[in-house]
Amino acid sequence: MSELIGIERRGPVLAIRFQRPEKKNAITGEMYASITRAFVEGEANPDVRAYVLFGSGGAFTAGNDIADFQRTGSLVTGAADIVRFLTLVAGLEKPLLAGVDGLAVGVGTTLLMHCDMVYATPAAWFQTPFTALGLVPEAGSSLIGPRLLGHAVAFELLVAGRRLSAERALSAGLINAIHEADALEAETLKLAAEIAALPPEAVTLSKRLLKGDGAAVAARIRHEVEIFAERLKTPEAQAAFAAFFATR
Ligand code: COA
Repeated sequence: MSELIGIERRGPVLAIRFQRPEKKNAITGEMYASITRAFVEGEANPDVRAYVLFGSGGAFTAGNDIADFQRTGSLVTGAADIVRFLTLVAGLEKPLLAGVDGLAVGVGTTLLMHCDMVYATPAAWFQTPFTALGLVPEAGSSLIGPRLLGHAVAFELLVAGRRLSAERALSAGLINAIHEADALEAETLKLAAEIAALPPEAVTLSKRLLKGDGAAVAARIRHEVEIFAERLKTPEAQAAFAAFFATR
């Protein structure tokens, strides 16, 4: 297990935390693998009835670690971890919630499209700078984004790379409610506990009905990853990654 991922059981709720605050909780391959393991165990454990994602240090996550993107040698391995993670998240049977404070960038935002409910703080913001990095949308967001937000807002977020405030995210339907930072975790855990107290079979069947056929999403994730993996190697993308670190 990566120490950069916190896993905590709160009764029937499994809380998973990005805890790499000095890097704005940017996610490495090892961190994806740890979360994947937690979800696999959670799905198999009848005592676990809901998951909650949190960040730390006033940030949700700055998305995929750009240094991982940069290392050509690790691209294939990294992509495999990410695909496994994303496919699993997209197909989770048990409810997935998130409490977002501060920045949610890249997969930090697209991950939320797989959550069943999301709370955020007034300071939360959401951005996917895929095209600026020479990349394309991932995590099935090219399919789910337009369905969830409508084409115009999905384009604004996923292609134009514009930042959405918490208020915008709320009105666009990406999140459910805004809570002050000092109440965010308690409110999210309270909601998770409420959902976890419902008859679990009924919850799972209902979630499955609402999500519909997962095959199309899984296929889109694979298709996006093929393009994304090719894009990572392009001069356009490599120049953008180098520029990111050059300014830090
Ligand atoms: N991958 C790797 N390192 C990252 C990172 C990422 N995605 N996001 C932030 N970091 C690191 C920075 O390099 C910096 O490290 P350093 O202190 O060793 O120099 C540290 O985290 C703090 O980031 P910094 O940029 O100084 O914080 P900020 O508050 O000024 O800006 C962001 C925060 C998130 C706006 C900015 O870091 C950013 O744009 N990150 C990249 C997000 C991104 O493009 N993700 C991939 C999407 S596909």
